[in-house]
Amino acid sequence: MKLILYLLWSSLLVCSCQKERKTIKPGNIWTDNNGIHINAHGGGILFYEGKYYWYGEHKIEGKAGNKAMVGVHCYSSKNLVDWKDEGVALEVIKEGTGHDIEKGCILERPKVIYNPKTQKFVMWFHLELKEQGYRAARSGIAVSDKATGPFAFVKSLRPNAGQWPRNVKDIHKQPVGDDVQEHYCGGKGCLPSHPDTLNLLGRDFDKGQMARDQNLFVDDDGKAYHIYSSEENSTLHISQLADDFLSESGNYARFFAGRYMEAPAIFKKDEKYFLIASDCTGWAPNEARLAWAPSIFGPWEELGNPCRGEEAELTFRSQSTFVLPVQGKKNAFIFLGDRWTSENAIDGRYIWLPFQFDENGIPYLEWMDEWSLDYFD
Ligand code: DGJ
Repeated sequence: MKLILYLLWSSLLVCSCQKERKTIKPGNIWTDNNGIHINAHGGGILFYEGKYYWYGEHKIEGKAGNKAMVGVHCYSSKNLVDWKDEGVALEVIKEGTGHDIEKGCILERPKVIYNPKTQKFVMWFHLELKEQGYRAARSGIAVSDKATGPFAFVKSLRPNAGQWPRNVKDIHKQPVGDDVQEHYCGGKGCLPSHPDTLNLLGRDFDKGQMARDQNLFVDDDGKAYHIYSSEENSTLHISQLADDFLSESGNYARFFAGRYMEAPAIFKKDEKYFLIASDCTGWAPNEARLAWAPSIFGPWEELGNPCRGEEAELTFRSQSTFVLPVQGKKNAFIFLGDRWTSENAIDGRYIWLPFQFDENGIPYLEWMDEWSLDYFD
């Protein structure tokens, strides 16, 4: 009898030890249900009816993978650790068609939100037309009846054509100088240290504002906002979407002029809006920036680098892409970042870390080799 009890007890012990701990290991290979590294870079996550849906850029091997050769990949999960491959949610269009999202275009940072009024899933992404480098600076929009797609391409646009922002300055309404070029190189160092003096906003007033790195944010009142790097990347715009989420509403404002904020992601805690973003250094990592505001339209105040410890000045060798509020847990927010590998794009890794909050409620990030959602309990 004693022997039987002992065997029973020891087998229980083995079972509980072997029970896999559901952990997140930033920077490791993250496999899906087929054992394949998740392919959803520059992504964002939607929570809908009990499941998380992760959408991101499907990359292929080598440098060519930095262009859109496949489309936007979708995965689903109930626990943020086990991910099921849901396939390509938005496919690029056949080469040679001249379509806006023709294979070989640049399609980055896709984000999906759900519109309860229209019952549609709406995707926005940064679109660069094929063979035009990063000059087009457009936003693409696609819709689907299902979270997993297929998404149908609706249109691409330059946001807010013919609209002045809420905080437009007199200088923007002056005639634009002849020396102001149609396109600059799109990064720091190409523009004067005070790019506002060029009046890029005025330059693009008629055809619409440039939009590169981008994100979406849905507020508690159901209003959705498009946040995008504009004016040759020098200035961030926050723009309310129309009620159907398929276009801009014309209600927008510009912030952080001359700060070259890329990779913006907004979240809200205790009625405060927080923004995490990066500097503008191509695929190379840089120091993240945190800012806060009492309302989505500001005033926004920068709070410095939210990262602490080793490699804090490089955002732990990553760049922000999204901040995910964890469902059912209070004050639980996850920083989602990409560790880009531009020489072999498909190998890019995901850096997810829990936001911590200091005694003043200011968010910060510390590196963790491994952590689980229990962290938030
Ligand atoms: C940094 C951006 O954040 C990425 O999405 C991508 O556009 C690269 N620049 C391209 O260099």
